[in-house]
Amino acid sequence: MGSLGRLAHLYGWTLTLLAVFCQRCQGSCPENDLEQREEEANVVLTGTVEEIMNMDPVQNTYSCKVRVWRYLKGKTMVNGEILLDGGNKVMIGGFGDPGICDNQVATGDTRIFFVNLAPEYMWPTHKNELMLNSSLMRITLRNLEEVELCVEVSQ
Ligand SMILES: *[C@@H]1O[C@H](CO)[C@@H](O)[C@H](O)[C@H]1NC(C)=O
Repeated sequence: MGSLGRLAHLYGWTLTLLAVFCQRCQGSCPENDLEQREEEANVVLTGTVEEIMNMDPVQNTYSCKVRVWRYLKGKTMVNGEILLDGGNKVMIGGFGDPGICDNQVATGDTRIFFVNLAPEYMWPTHKNELMLNSSLMRITLRNLEEVELCVEVSQ
């Protein structure tokens, strides 16, 4: 390889690195810290997405029926008609909300959900739904521990 070839090679690599790096910057999305996310969500639960429904073709948002495994916060707020199919499922709306960084799920995904009861101005479409309030979180021991700690501290 001549020096020109080496230069071209180096240039190619630099471009590749820049491309990878910039994909990251674009993908990054400002996220509040966990304490704040926990404060803003009245309900935090772990659950598995069973069904995707009410896809809005314009806004690209959708709701999901979620089987709840455990409430990390706010269990008593989830009652009455919010509970579905005998009590262990809820409807969660707001997936695809551009104001939330990690906002996409597929059927079968198990996540930690930070949600609030749908405010009245969202009725009737979202009546008795919980609305996603911040990013979905993967279930790891560390994540669970961190969320639990935030809930304990804020109580
Ligand atoms: C999350 O909930 C808070 C209220 O606790 C609200 O002010 C905020 O707009 C909600 N965020 C989203 C993305 O819905």
